[in-house]
Amino acid sequence: MKAERIKKPRGTSDFIGEDKALFDSIVEKLFLAADKFGCQKIDVPIFEEQQLFFRGVGESSDIVSKEMFKLDVKGEHNYIMRPEFTASVNRSVIENKLFASPDLPIKLSYCGPVFRYERPQAGRLRQFHQFGIEFFDSKIDTMTAMDSVLLLYRAAEEILGHELYLKVNYLGGSQARENYRKALREYYRTKVDSMCEDCHRRYQINVLRMLDCKVPEDIEINKGAPAISGYLIEEDKKNFETMLNALDALKIEYKRDDRLVRGLDYYTGLVFEIYDPLNRKLGAIGAGGQYGKLMEELGGPEMEGIGFSFGIERLMLALDSKQKEQLVNQQSLDYFIVDLRAEKDALGIILADILRSAGRSVSASSYSKKINGSLKMADRLKAKTTLIFTDNNPGVVLIKNMETREQIEYPSSDVDKIVSKLMEMERE
Ligand code: HAM
Repeated sequence: MKAERIKKPRGTSDFIGEDKALFDSIVEKLFLAADKFGCQKIDVPIFEEQQLFFRGVGESSDIVSKEMFKLDVKGEHNYIMRPEFTASVNRSVIENKLFASPDLPIKLSYCGPVFRYERPQAGRLRQFHQFGIEFFDSKIDTMTAMDSVLLLYRAAEEILGHELYLKVNYLGGSQARENYRKALREYYRTKVDSMCEDCHRRYQINVLRMLDCKVPEDIEINKGAPAISGYLIEEDKKNFETMLNALDALKIEYKRDDRLVRGLDYYTGLVFEIYDPLNRKLGAIGAGGQYGKLMEELGGPEMEGIGFSFGIERLMLALDSKQKEQLVNQQSLDYFIVDLRAEKDALGIILADILRSAGRSVSASSYSKKINGSLKMADRLKAKTTLIFTDNNPGVVLIKNMETREQIEYPSSDVDKIVSKLMEMERE
């Protein structure tokens, strides 16, 4: 009897071949973009103490209250698979005393898998990948705040090749938020009973979250809720205006959205989400904002932060086939070896070894392949040059330029000489 097949868990992906190449190419582009803004890379554990996200992201957020992947390790630890990076990066900045750096702002970039137990659908996965940045300073000034929005915008623009749709809002400091909370509580007081179960809980724990509700009847009720803009104090309003003026000056189009509160509790000032206007159904491809108190809430010093994360899978879904091809096209093979001789020696493998040591990428076709099949394979792998050994041409290697299809014969008796010849041809 055949063994039952085991499938990957729902909401996860296998990235194979071109898909993986596309994934890597996007990540590489994002890191390069972040390098241009002076970011340093950071990696943090894939699982953390549950408390980090309870305190950092907030118990009323969906990702903590409903979507956690908990790890039951011998009943001793309360670990969870990270649902996002921001809390972890803040923890790491505290734990490694990066905050003591004299060089502010601290600018960090990261990428890796995150886990949320959501209902899987297109662009909504249980394991997905985020690329993001976090900037830290004693006070986030306009330049630093705008740098983070600019990096999000320009990087997405470079990958997708067109303008994006940017939504912004300003949540204000603790005073504005407290006043706003009071106003929302008052507004929902007589309505909450008719709203969904989650909203009952949100009303108690964090009334702001009610604005995020996706239940159609509740969305209608939310339309009449007061907007945060009416509760910002003068300083908040001025900060927001300065940032919007900077976006105008940068000629980056944005839409102010009073209802944009974001699903995570730590945001205090500017919040933003970016959408692909050609693929609005995907949801935000990247999002972020400013957080003024997170570091203190995690036991660190008074230091503010701002950052964003892209969802890599959403970026991949937003690309059309031509864009994908262009991104993957950069991945090619320098040499492809086809050894069709009946009696094989180690020539092919030695050649491959020397070429790889010289930094070239090399692959080979399997022994059973015929010449036509091997050349087709070389084309599929985007090989630049194919090296062919056959019994019809004993003692020579055919060096075939896969672009021009021209080929020359060269003696195969001395591997080092073959390599010198190849290097010489590369320089021509
Ligand atoms: P977030 O909005 O929860 O923010 O997620 C950021 C991005 O991750 C989203 O815009 C989306 O592209 C992607 N994403 C979210 N959930 C899923 C999912 N289930 N499947 C696929 N992609 C998804 C944060 O995580 C914040 N930590 C961002 C941030 C950084 N704020 C400040 N710094």
